Amino acid sequence: MTGDIEINDLVAEAEALSKTQASAQLTSALRWVERQTHTRTNHAQMLVGKEEGLFLNAFVKCVNAKRVLEIGTFTGYSLICLADAVLHNEGFGVDALEINQELEYIIAEGLQRAKVEEITRVSFGDAKELLQKIATNRTAAQECGCEMYDVVFIDANKREYAEYYNLVFPLVKVGGYILADNVLWYGKAGATAAGDVNHRDKKTAGIIDFNSLVENDTRVSKFLYKIRDGLYIIRKESTRLPSSTSSRCLR
Ligand SMILES: C[S@@+](CC[C@H](N)C(=O)[O-])C[C@H]1O[C@@H](n2cnc3c(N)ncnc32)[C@H](O)[C@@H]1O
Repeated sequence: MTGDIEINDLVAEAEALSKTQASAQLTSALRWVERQTHTRTNHAQMLVGKEEGLFLNAFVKCVNAKRVLEIGTFTGYSLICLADAVLHNEGFGVDALEINQELEYIIAEGLQRAKVEEITRVSFGDAKELLQKIATNRTAAQECGCEMYDVVFIDANKREYAEYYNLVFPLVKVGGYILADNVLWYGKAGATAAGDVNHRDKKTAGIIDFNSLVENDTRVSKFLYKIRDGLYIIRKESTRLPSSTSSRCLR
């Protein structure tokens, strides 16, 4: 796919930018969130971590995103990286969806420390329901074709990735990006693992189904970036399936 080459270039640009020094404010807020996560939860392995977090930050800057959505916030590490990247853009803002409201106090203090609390809106609840609400609450302008998000980062329940993708797709601008984390799933979601249907756990099956959905989606260009546990970088090229595909479905 021709778009793959361009995404490749974009990834190289973002990777280079991510290795330049992060601001003291961002670095110190991320350190604080990481410490809190280790102290107050048993799931610190869920954080994207510094390398991927700074890549996300650089990626959002490289595509000059203004509106960003995160699905699966946990203690706010990746959210801070995303929000810091849109800080200097006019009309910017980041929405975040997280099911576990007990994490609110850590998320809120992290956002304050990173000085991004005013441009970030965190909604608590099931992302599938929240996405449906966002879709129905779209303004008249958005219903006329101006979709909402430049970048969406998916990092919630691995079993539900395909559902998030289908729900969020209409909310992403043409030319915008959906980034999905953990798509290698510790090597369990690779091509060789895919055949062993009987031995898949539900999370692995969810990631395999998601990867296959994206692989077969002719509306997008994609690039699997092998950072950490695999980040799928998906660019929405069009809203509709090509007419040849649609007519095939009609026959
Ligand atoms: C891997 S963690 C996210 C890590 C975060 N992106 C980071 O790097 O800092 C996944 C998060 O998704 C949340 N989650 C799981 N299912 C969800 C759902 N249906 N709706 C919203 N959030 C969900 C979990 O509570 C958890 O906090």
